[in-house]
Amino acid sequence: MKTLYLSANDASTASIAAEIIKNGGLVALPTETVYGLGANGLAPAAVKKVFEAKGRPQDNPLILHIWNSAQLSELCHHIPESAWALAAAFWPGPLTMVLPAKDTVPLSTRANLPSVAVRCPDSDITREIIRLSGVPIAAPSANISGKPSTTTAQHVRFDHDGRIDCIVDGGPCRVGVESTIVDLTETPPRLLRPGGITAEELESVLGEITVDKAVTQSLSADEVAKAPGMKYKHYAPQCEVVILSGSSESAARYVKAHRKANDRVLCFEEELPLFAGCEPLAYGRKADPASLSAGLFGALRILDDPAVGTVYARCPMGGGMEAAVRNRLSKAAAFRVIDADNDPAVACSDSAPCAGAPLVIGITGGTGCGKTTLLEVIRKAGGTVIDCDALYHDLLQTDSRLLAAIAARFPDTVEDGVLQRKKLGAIVFGHRQALQDLNDLTTPFILAALEARLQKASGLVAIDAIRLIEAGIDRLCRTTVAVTAPTQDRVARLMARDSIPESYARSRIAAQPDEAFYAAHCHHILKNDGTKAEFEAKCLAFLQGLGIMKKNGQSPTAN
Ligand code: TXA
Ligand code: MG
Repeated sequence: MKTLYLSANDASTASIAAEIIKNGGLVALPTETVYGLGANGLAPAAVKKVFEAKGRPQDNPLILHIWNSAQLSELCHHIPESAWALAAAFWPGPLTMVLPAKDTVPLSTRANLPSVAVRCPDSDITREIIRLSGVPIAAPSANISGKPSTTTAQHVRFDHDGRIDCIVDGGPCRVGVESTIVDLTETPPRLLRPGGITAEELESVLGEITVDKAVTQSLSADEVAKAPGMKYKHYAPQCEVVILSGSSESAARYVKAHRKANDRVLCFEEELPLFAGCEPLAYGRKADPASLSAGLFGALRILDDPAVGTVYARCPMGGGMEAAVRNRLSKAAAFRVIDADNDPAVACSDSAPCAGAPLVIGITGGTGCGKTTLLEVIRKAGGTVIDCDALYHDLLQTDSRLLAAIAARFPDTVEDGVLQRKKLGAIVFGHRQALQDLNDLTTPFILAALEARLQKASGLVAIDAIRLIEAGIDRLCRTTVAVTAPTQDRVARLMARDSIPESYARSRIAAQPDEAFYAAHCHHILKNDGTKAEFEAKCLAFLQGLGIMKKNGQSPTAN
């Protein structure tokens, strides 16, 4: 299909677009909130196309867009006075009302609900298209389902070129986040989604309102969302988003301590200098919440790149429009928040390590790379090494719950309370799912044991873990290091150390993550590509460079 591009400024645009809607086609429309993907809201066949183009679950109802308040009575019954009061105060504008639906509204438009969501958008061209088409236009946000919403015609083109009939370009959306949704079928009315009309503005007309739980928290699998769309992980770029709370200074220190090469920072313009060197992207000014809502989705779209690792997002914490921005960011982050003010790495900045709290370095790397040399250097410097392999074997002796969990998943591997390691090894070797299951079941025990050890530790502590990243142990570390080495050196070392043939050494190496994996996930790479003495010197220089060891090779906080 060839997509037709029309400008909101052309005199013929409204009639052409309205004709496409009348004929059952799909037209992307500008509104003051976000672009919508519009179709005849009274024609189930046209509505079906919207769900298909967007890849939207059928249980998530659409909003009907009308061109004036009077149209409301064609779609809803039992309309309370408060609805008319809201319409008078905020329409046309970024407010959607949920009201009892008349039978004229097809069940597919409202996903079989007895109610329907209606709004009158503040865009002259779009209201004119609705008027000329003669029907309410069903329009979800035009993004492909699950992706950040579309706030420019270019965003819509990116998602839908060649897949829909027409895109009307009305320039960038002024508000930038979707409309506020209020459910008037309940008393007091319930705020289902914060948006361009603030909760405070709603209260000025409605008096008391309740705020739906899904606005501020993630719902568990068995909870029913009042606005079905609120249960989905929305607005999210492909990467992991985490909200970083706390002062700007703490946040900048946190990012500097924890950031990996492909991580990004989404921040306020005012914070750009603080995050210098960390690839910050500003989405608006903290002092101007409207600029944050206008810029948010565009910024999330820029970060929607498979090469990006974690996005550390700075989020406004106030009311009004800030609440709408916080809701969208929280959903993109699946409500994950890290408090930078209380992070140990922030309390112990690189230049001034604090006494008492341990300085934890995570160490990983493939077999035969020379991790042991780095660990020796750390021990000589007075550091403590926690060997996760040894920890696991200790736990097998001391924590009966671990053994019970293994016995439950791999019944024949525990005999008389003793793990038959060879049997277990034979089961998981070469069986990805079995190995994954074993890892999934042991990881929580290892993490808990590590946390307990770290609580009692002080000084320089190295955690030696082959699965440092995969098991999430890196989250316990102030910084992470991977030791790597050229493959031929590793092969030679393994053959000599374990008396194994070359082919076996190579297959063991091939089964482990490659250097690119460590480069993407660790803060530092130490390449062991010279003599042992050279590598020792490199390790020492590395520890000194981190500022966690004095030039004499002693850890400043070692006991
Ligand atoms: O600003 C907006 O509202 C944009 C523009 C295009 O107008 N539209 C928009 O639509 O955001 P959409 O489909 O992305 O979000 C509609 C939300 C969903 O969360 C949906 O579950 C909820 O409205 N909704 C629709 N009908 C409902 C109903 N009868 N009861 C409760 N929630 C409803
Ligand atoms: Mg949407």
